[in-house]
Amino acid sequence: MKVLVVGGGGREHALCWKIAQSERVSEVLCAPGNAGTAKVARNLAVKATDIDKLVHIATHEKVGLVVVGPEEPLCLGLADKLRAAGIPVFGPGASGARLEGSKLFAKEFLTRHRIPTAGFRRFDRSGTAKAYLEGCRQWPQVIKADGLAAGKGVFVVHTAKEGCTIVDQVMEEKRLGDAGREIAIEEFLVGEEVSVLAIVDGESLCVLEPVMDHKQVGDGDTGPNTGGMGVYSPVALFNRRLQWQVEQNVLIPTLHGLRRDEIDYKGVLFVGLMLTEAGPRVLEFNCRFGDPETEAVMRRFQGDLVPYLLAAAQGKLADLEAPEWDPRVCVGVVGAAEGYPGTYRKGDPITGLDEAGKVEEVVVFHAGTKPAPGGSVLTDGGRVLCVTAMGETVDEARERAYRAFDALKWDGKFCRRDIGFRHGKAAEVQ
Ligand code: AMP
Ligand code: GLY
Repeated sequence: MKVLVVGGGGREHALCWKIAQSERVSEVLCAPGNAGTAKVARNLAVKATDIDKLVHIATHEKVGLVVVGPEEPLCLGLADKLRAAGIPVFGPGASGARLEGSKLFAKEFLTRHRIPTAGFRRFDRSGTAKAYLEGCRQWPQVIKADGLAAGKGVFVVHTAKEGCTIVDQVMEEKRLGDAGREIAIEEFLVGEEVSVLAIVDGESLCVLEPVMDHKQVGDGDTGPNTGGMGVYSPVALFNRRLQWQVEQNVLIPTLHGLRRDEIDYKGVLFVGLMLTEAGPRVLEFNCRFGDPETEAVMRRFQGDLVPYLLAAAQGKLADLEAPEWDPRVCVGVVGAAEGYPGTYRKGDPITGLDEAGKVEEVVVFHAGTKPAPGGSVLTDGGRVLCVTAMGETVDEARERAYRAFDALKWDGKFCRRDIGFRHGKAAEVQ
């Protein structure tokens, strides 16, 4: 069977790498892919948002399964069109993707189905939003643009003045375009954040191992938010009791809610959670695998992933046993290009990939890279790659990941040096 993976980041390299190991798969295609996916898949020069072309290619190549990485094509209805063409697809249709595509839709879904989340108010006018902020007694507050904003649509504000400036920028100056036409203003939650991903087929779910992302650009969680600067799994803080709570109070009610709302959801349900003193609260939903979460999940997933993806696409997940996990720790360190998450450098040659890949238990997943003539590899994105390492302990995995990372060279390269630091903190909390 041929499998088409849509997207071109670290998540897609990790998916291609894992899917290519399946005995059921004759060839992996990746659209558009990167220099890393080119080693395990056939890259196709098609953008992830070129819906009609992707449907055409999947049909023409007689693909047996399409796995959609990013949210944008899902929100644009790629999965619906593929299903209409009779092609099994791992990823929800546009109605399910709204859980990520519209923060207000997600908040109203959560409220309607009594799933714990931060209290919020909805605003479609800047005047009423500002009047609300002027009357707030609790600070900080969180302002969220409704639409997709590539991780740039959430603002934690500490005073009414700061909040009103953001409201003007988002709603009047339209700095986030249409994404800021409406906003939510929500209660600020305190706690540790954790990502829980589940494979869902519309009826049942298969919960994947929890992962902790490091969203801010600087060590010690400082500086602006990014797509994710590193990851580790398993998460010590996320014990069995919490896992049970999340399943009972969040995942199962979400699945029921989707069914009640007649949304046929097949793909990944990614829940960003805040573990507050009052219990887990949903911060956000994503309708896809996380990045860099997937890089760690794929390293720890044992056995063949493809039956799970296919079963989810076909509504047959209940037929499968729960997957087995490598009990060891995975640490993933993202290497970024100078300037990220703002305007970043591009086109710098990367060296040391072979040397890095030889460090024990290391796999380097490419994100923003592209092949250049003569076999060299150039930087081509803000997050350039993700170095993953397995180890018996967090310290062992970290040492390997950073040793491999230090073998890599490109101008303007940087990373966070503290990936996994919350592991120690988690032990203190317990
Ligand atoms: P989101 O895209 O909604 O997950 O928000 C991005 C980041 O903003 C999250 O990962 C949190 O770190 C932070 N955040 C979002 N909502 C809240 C909230 N209600 N309270 C505290 N922090 C939040
Ligand atoms: N790493 C966070 C995300 O994929 O949304």
